Amino acid sequence: MKFILAIDQGTTSTRAVLFDGDMQAVGTAQQEFPQYFPKAGWVEHDLDEIWDSVVATCRQVLAQTGITAADLAGIGITNQRETTAVWDKATGAPLHRAIVWQDRRTVEICEALRGGGHEDMIRHKTGLLLDPYFSGTKASWILDQNPEARDRAARGELLFGTIDSFLIWRLTGGASHVTDATNASRTMLYDIREGAWSEEICGLLQVPMAMLPEVKDCAADFGITVPEILGEAVPILGVAGDQQAAGIGQACFAPGMMKSTYGTGCFALLNTGETPVVSHNRLLTTVAYQLGGKPTYALEGSIFIAGAAVQWLRDGLGLLEDAAQSGALARQADPEQDVLLVPAFTGLGAPYWQPECRGAVFGLTRGTGPAEMARAALQSVAYQTRDLWEAMRADWPEETHVTLRVDGGMSASDWTMQSLSDLLGAAVDRPKMQETTVLGAGWLAGMQAGIYPDQAGFAATWALDRKFTPQMAPAQRDAAYGRWQRAVQAVIGV
Ligand code: G3P
Repeated sequence: MKFILAIDQGTTSTRAVLFDGDMQAVGTAQQEFPQYFPKAGWVEHDLDEIWDSVVATCRQVLAQTGITAADLAGIGITNQRETTAVWDKATGAPLHRAIVWQDRRTVEICEALRGGGHEDMIRHKTGLLLDPYFSGTKASWILDQNPEARDRAARGELLFGTIDSFLIWRLTGGASHVTDATNASRTMLYDIREGAWSEEICGLLQVPMAMLPEVKDCAADFGITVPEILGEAVPILGVAGDQQAAGIGQACFAPGMMKSTYGTGCFALLNTGETPVVSHNRLLTTVAYQLGGKPTYALEGSIFIAGAAVQWLRDGLGLLEDAAQSGALARQADPEQDVLLVPAFTGLGAPYWQPECRGAVFGLTRGTGPAEMARAALQSVAYQTRDLWEAMRADWPEETHVTLRVDGGMSASDWTMQSLSDLLGAAVDRPKMQETTVLGAGWLAGMQAGIYPDQAGFAATWALDRKFTPQMAPAQRDAAYGRWQRAVQAVIGV
């Protein structure tokens, strides 16, 4: 039997998962790596530490399972998106630490582009908002730090890439400088309509095009690993940014299918099919996946605080010992109390994009205790998802039936998923296999290797663990959501 090795290079840890020929996970290795915060609002990763964590977890999962690189049909890679690397082509040495997607240092570059009247053009071509979140301004900032860097980059001596590109370049011993369309679509340098790097945007940011990777489908030949790393040469056959990989792992292949991943924050993607849909509600338009040379687009919305609200209950307030207790505690809350939390700890993401506002609790009484706070924290995740849901449906009114599939740590909480279904007024489907991100990367590689089913066959393997259906009366739901909307406006106004 042949196996697939899937690498998930995330924001705080790296995981390597081995899948057997039946797409079952047979081994996992995980390693955290350091985060660097050199100044307020800055977040960096050491690329050598990321690289070491990838090599170590891959070797570890092979050693644990007794499977050798010769048993592998291919490698799939999924990664934290937008995080930006620039490295020396001759030595492989990074020019700077990677600038992480959360990093806000390029606000001024964004302001200058806005002031220059380029916002609409960037929005139209890339589908993104003009924001430091994306890679383009980060790459420009790295080049700004060194007077010779732009000339060197123009001569092809320095290379730019998101984490997938950097890893592939190292895994292939510098033979492949490539990325996939989903990662490219997060750089703010890529024209998602043309399927090509934008000369105009690269020009504005003075990012020489010679340093950019070649953009491929998500299932493609990305290169072959040098034998020293795993003991044998192995082809890299699948790549997708982590949120897109989760959508792929959830088999959200038809327009109207939406996935919502609950980690520290929450990222929701709605498949809108073959045409990019322009958002009027400050959502992003992005490539959901590209297969057979054909891009499929999505609307994306992200909220910053999901699981982080439960972490706050546990670590900040000391109300819980274990995050897994939050649902049981919420269940004990007094139904007569309407405590409502707006967890704008770091501002509000989509569709509000209010970085400066801060959180608040409404409806406190003398009787408010841990159970009411737990309920408020979990419901805040449901309310924020409803905000994304409303924005997506407003942007794409022609589709009346939207299917929501959930994954990520918090989706394990029955109480939270029921409350999500209640507050959305829609069904919420939780799959049996909740490791959808690595599964997505693994499937892409296995399909390309010819050992896994095609898209339709893979979609048929998606299995429901539990369907949550709304139990709340519509009038109660509307009243609750109205109150949430007023609370958000109050927080924004303070
Ligand atoms: O856009 C950022 C996202 O890709 C990060 O995901 O799971 O590494 O926090 P994660």
